[in-house]
Amino acid sequence: MTLTIVSDQIETYLESQVPPRPAEMQDMEEYAWRTGFPIIGPTCGYLCYQMTRINGARQVFEMGSGYGYSTAWFARGVQENGGGTVHHVVWDAELSQMAREHLKVLGYDGLIRYHVSEAVQTLRSMPGQFDLIFNDINKDGYPDALPVIKEKLRPGGVLLVDNVLWSGRIFDSHDQSASTQGIRRFVDMIESDPDWIVSTIPIRDGLMVAYKQG
Ligand SMILES: C[S@@+](CC[C@H](N)C(=O)[O-])C[C@H]1O[C@@H](n2cnc3c(N)ncnc32)[C@H](O)[C@@H]1O
Repeated sequence: MTLTIVSDQIETYLESQVPPRPAEMQDMEEYAWRTGFPIIGPTCGYLCYQMTRINGARQVFEMGSGYGYSTAWFARGVQENGGGTVHHVVWDAELSQMAREHLKVLGYDGLIRYHVSEAVQTLRSMPGQFDLIFNDINKDGYPDALPVIKEKLRPGGVLLVDNVLWSGRIFDSHDQSASTQGIRRFVDMIESDPDWIVSTIPIRDGLMVAYKQG
Protein backbone atom coordinates (compact mmCIF):
# COMPACT_ATOMS: atom_id res chain seq x y z
CA MET A 1 0.00 0.00 0.00
CA THR A 2 1.41 3.40 -0.93
CA LEU A 3 -0.18 6.82 -0.50
CA THR A 4 0.33 10.02 -2.41
CA ILE A 5 1.45 12.29 0.42
CA VAL A 6 1.02 15.52 -1.55
CA SER A 7 -1.30 15.82 -4.57
CA ASP A 8 0.35 16.70 -7.88
CA GLN A 9 -1.47 20.03 -7.89
CA ILE A 10 -0.13 21.04 -4.47
CA GLU A 11 3.34 19.62 -5.23
CA THR A 12 3.53 21.73 -8.39
CA TYR A 13 2.26 24.79 -6.53
CA LEU A 14 4.78 24.38 -3.68
CA GLU A 15 7.62 23.83 -6.12
CA SER A 16 6.65 26.95 -8.08
CA GLN A 17 7.19 28.96 -4.88
CA VAL A 18 10.83 27.91 -4.60
CA PRO A 19 13.05 30.64 -6.11
CA PRO A 20 15.02 29.68 -9.24
CA ARG A 21 18.10 27.53 -8.64
CA PRO A 22 21.53 27.81 -10.33
CA ALA A 23 21.92 25.81 -13.55
CA GLU A 24 24.11 23.25 -11.76
CA MET A 25 21.35 22.49 -9.23
CA GLN A 26 18.80 22.23 -12.03
CA ASP A 27 21.11 19.68 -13.69
CA MET A 28 21.23 17.72 -10.41
CA GLU A 29 17.42 17.77 -10.23
CA GLU A 30 17.18 16.68 -13.86
CA TYR A 31 19.56 13.77 -13.18
CA ALA A 32 17.38 12.60 -10.29
CA TRP A 33 14.17 12.73 -12.36
CA ARG A 34 15.91 10.82 -15.19
CA THR A 35 17.50 8.10 -13.05
CA GLY A 36 15.03 7.87 -10.15
CA PHE A 37 17.73 8.75 -7.61
CA PRO A 38 15.88 9.81 -4.42
CA ILE A 39 17.01 13.38 -3.74
CA ILE A 40 14.99 15.58 -1.38
CA GLY A 41 13.94 17.84 -4.28
CA PRO A 42 13.47 21.63 -4.40
CA THR A 43 10.57 22.11 -1.94
CA CYS A 44 12.17 20.06 0.82
CA GLY A 45 15.63 21.42 -0.05
CA TYR A 46 14.42 24.99 0.31
CA LEU A 47 12.94 24.14 3.72
CA CYS A 48 16.27 22.59 4.79
CA TYR A 49 18.03 25.78 3.67
CA GLN A 50 15.47 27.87 5.58
CA MET A 51 15.98 25.78 8.74
CA THR A 52 19.75 26.27 8.42
CA ARG A 53 19.23 30.03 8.30
CA ILE A 54 16.71 30.09 11.18
CA ASN A 55 19.06 28.02 13.35
CA GLY A 56 22.09 30.14 12.33
CA ALA A 57 23.87 26.81 11.75
CA ARG A 58 27.61 26.89 11.04
CA GLN A 59 28.33 23.19 11.70
CA VAL A 60 26.08 20.78 9.79
CA PHE A 61 26.37 17.00 9.64
CA GLU A 62 24.56 15.18 6.83
CA MET A 63 23.95 11.43 7.06
CA GLY A 64 23.36 9.85 3.65
CA SER A 65 24.36 12.63 1.30
CA GLY A 66 24.08 11.09 -2.19
CA TYR A 67 25.61 13.18 -4.97
CA GLY A 68 25.37 16.42 -3.03
CA TYR A 69 21.95 17.89 -3.82
CA SER A 70 20.79 18.22 -0.20
CA THR A 71 24.36 19.25 0.71
CA ALA A 72 24.09 22.21 -1.66
CA TRP A 73 21.05 23.56 0.22
CA PHE A 74 22.81 23.24 3.60
CA ALA A 75 26.00 24.76 2.20
CA ARG A 76 24.08 27.77 0.90
CA GLY A 77 22.59 28.28 4.38
CA VAL A 78 25.93 27.92 6.16
CA GLN A 79 27.61 30.29 3.69
CA GLU A 80 24.93 32.92 4.29
CA ASN A 81 25.24 32.38 8.06
CA GLY A 82 28.86 33.51 7.81
CA GLY A 83 30.64 30.25 6.96
CA GLY A 84 31.36 26.91 8.60
CA THR A 85 31.41 23.26 7.58
CA VAL A 86 28.91 20.86 6.05
CA HIS A 87 29.92 17.21 6.41
CA HIS A 88 29.00 15.21 3.30
CA VAL A 89 28.83 11.54 4.31
CA VAL A 90 28.04 8.67 1.98
CA TRP A 91 29.52 5.20 1.67
CA ASP A 92 29.54 5.21 -2.17
CA ALA A 93 32.86 6.58 -3.53
CA GLU A 94 31.28 7.32 -6.91
CA LEU A 95 28.53 9.49 -5.37
CA SER A 96 31.09 11.31 -3.26
CA GLN A 97 33.09 12.09 -6.41
CA MET A 98 29.97 13.37 -8.21
CA ALA A 99 29.22 15.58 -5.18
CA ARG A 100 32.74 17.04 -5.20
CA GLU A 101 32.33 18.07 -8.84
CA HIS A 102 28.84 19.60 -8.43
CA LEU A 103 29.61 21.44 -5.19
CA LYS A 104 32.82 22.86 -6.63
CA VAL A 105 30.91 24.33 -9.58
CA LEU A 106 28.39 25.79 -7.11
CA GLY A 107 31.24 27.53 -5.24
CA TYR A 108 30.85 25.60 -1.97
CA ASP A 109 34.20 23.80 -2.14
CA GLY A 110 35.75 25.40 0.95
CA LEU A 111 32.68 24.67 3.09
CA ILE A 112 32.41 20.90 2.60
CA ARG A 113 34.23 18.06 4.31
CA TYR A 114 33.80 14.75 2.49
CA HIS A 115 33.64 11.33 4.18
CA VAL A 116 33.29 8.07 2.22
CA SER A 117 32.10 5.98 5.14
CA GLU A 118 29.19 4.70 7.20
CA ALA A 119 27.33 7.73 8.54
CA VAL A 120 26.48 6.68 12.13
CA GLN A 121 30.02 5.48 12.87
CA THR A 122 31.43 8.66 11.34
CA LEU A 123 29.15 10.88 13.40
CA ARG A 124 30.09 8.96 16.56
CA SER A 125 33.79 9.57 15.84
CA MET A 126 33.44 13.33 15.36
CA PRO A 127 34.70 15.70 18.06
CA GLY A 128 32.28 18.30 19.41
CA GLN A 129 28.63 18.89 18.62
CA PHE A 130 26.70 20.12 15.59
CA ASP A 131 24.12 22.87 15.14
CA LEU A 132 22.09 20.87 12.65
CA ILE A 133 22.01 17.18 11.65
CA PHE A 134 20.19 15.80 8.62
CA ASN A 135 19.36 12.09 8.53
CA ASP A 136 18.67 10.39 5.19
CA ILE A 137 20.43 7.01 5.61
CA ASN A 138 18.91 3.57 4.99
CA LYS A 139 15.69 3.46 6.97
CA ASP A 140 16.47 0.28 8.92
CA GLY A 141 19.39 2.23 10.42
CA TYR A 142 17.23 5.05 11.81
CA PRO A 143 16.63 3.67 15.37
CA ASP A 144 20.31 2.95 16.11
CA ALA A 145 21.27 6.37 14.75
CA LEU A 146 19.09 8.29 17.21
CA PRO A 147 21.21 8.00 20.41
CA VAL A 148 24.32 9.04 18.46
CA ILE A 149 22.47 11.96 16.87
CA LYS A 150 21.21 13.08 20.27
CA GLU A 151 24.71 13.02 21.74
CA LYS A 152 26.21 14.93 18.80
CA LEU A 153 23.56 17.64 18.40
CA ARG A 154 24.01 20.69 20.61
CA PRO A 155 21.20 21.79 22.92
CA GLY A 156 19.06 24.10 20.77
CA GLY A 157 20.14 22.18 17.67
CA VAL A 158 17.84 21.00 14.91
CA LEU A 159 17.47 17.49 13.53
CA LEU A 160 15.86 17.02 10.10
CA VAL A 161 14.82 13.50 9.10
CA ASP A 162 13.68 12.53 5.62
CA ASN A 163 11.06 9.93 4.59
CA VAL A 164 9.19 9.69 7.90
CA LEU A 165 5.88 9.09 6.07
CA TRP A 166 7.52 6.53 3.76
CA SER A 167 4.84 6.80 1.02
CA GLY A 168 2.24 5.81 3.64
CA ARG A 169 3.81 2.37 4.23
CA ILE A 170 4.09 3.14 7.95
CA PHE A 171 0.26 2.83 8.14
CA ASP A 172 0.16 -0.62 6.53
CA SER A 173 0.11 -3.25 9.31
CA HIS A 174 1.07 -5.93 6.73
CA ASP A 175 4.31 -4.10 6.02
CA GLN A 176 6.81 -5.48 8.52
CA SER A 177 9.89 -4.80 6.37
CA ALA A 178 13.07 -3.66 8.09
CA SER A 179 12.82 -0.19 6.51
CA THR A 180 9.22 0.44 7.52
CA GLN A 181 9.80 -0.95 11.01
CA GLY A 182 12.91 1.21 11.30
CA ILE A 183 10.94 4.39 10.61
CA ARG A 184 8.10 3.38 12.98
CA ARG A 185 10.55 2.65 15.80
CA PHE A 186 12.53 5.83 15.21
CA VAL A 187 9.34 7.95 15.36
CA ASP A 188 8.19 6.20 18.57
CA MET A 189 11.60 6.70 20.17
CA ILE A 190 11.92 10.39 19.40
CA GLU A 191 8.30 11.26 20.17
CA SER A 192 8.46 9.59 23.59
CA ASP A 193 11.64 11.48 24.56
CA PRO A 194 10.78 14.79 26.31
CA ASP A 195 14.11 16.31 25.23
CA TRP A 196 12.75 16.71 21.69
CA ILE A 197 10.06 18.98 20.24
CA VAL A 198 8.94 17.16 17.10
CA SER A 199 6.79 18.02 14.07
CA THR A 200 6.27 16.12 10.85
CA ILE A 201 5.86 18.27 7.78
CA PRO A 202 3.94 16.41 5.07
CA ILE A 203 5.92 17.64 2.10
CA ARG A 204 7.37 15.14 -0.38
CA ASP A 205 7.80 11.92 1.67
CA GLY A 206 7.47 13.56 5.10
CA LEU A 207 10.20 15.66 6.69
CA MET A 208 10.55 15.53 10.47
CA VAL A 209 11.78 18.68 12.19
CA ALA A 210 13.00 18.00 15.73
CA TYR A 211 14.35 20.62 18.14
CA LYS A 212 16.66 19.35 20.88
CA GLN A 213 15.78 21.30 23.99
CA GLY A 214 17.65 19.20 26.55
C1 LIG B 1 18.39 8.93 -0.16
S1 LIG B 1 20.01 8.99 -0.72
C2 LIG B 1 20.57 10.60 -0.33
C3 LIG B 1 19.92 11.75 -1.03
C4 LIG B 1 20.47 13.07 -0.58
N1 LIG B 1 20.24 13.28 0.85
C5 LIG B 1 19.84 14.19 -1.36
O1 LIG B 1 18.69 14.53 -1.06
O2 LIG B 1 20.50 14.72 -2.26
C6 LIG B 1 20.88 8.10 0.53
C7 LIG B 1 22.33 7.83 0.18
O3 LIG B 1 23.01 7.46 1.38
C8 LIG B 1 23.64 6.20 1.25
N2 LIG B 1 23.54 5.58 2.57
C9 LIG B 1 22.49 4.90 3.10
N3 LIG B 1 22.74 4.49 4.36
C10 LIG B 1 23.98 4.95 4.64
C11 LIG B 1 24.82 4.85 5.79
N4 LIG B 1 24.39 4.23 6.91
N5 LIG B 1 26.04 5.41 5.74
C12 LIG B 1 26.48 6.05 4.64
N6 LIG B 1 25.74 6.17 3.51
C13 LIG B 1 24.51 5.62 3.51
C14 LIG B 1 22.88 5.49 0.16
O4 LIG B 1 23.71 4.52 -0.46
C15 LIG B 1 22.50 6.64 -0.77
O5 LIG B 1 23.53 6.93 -1.66
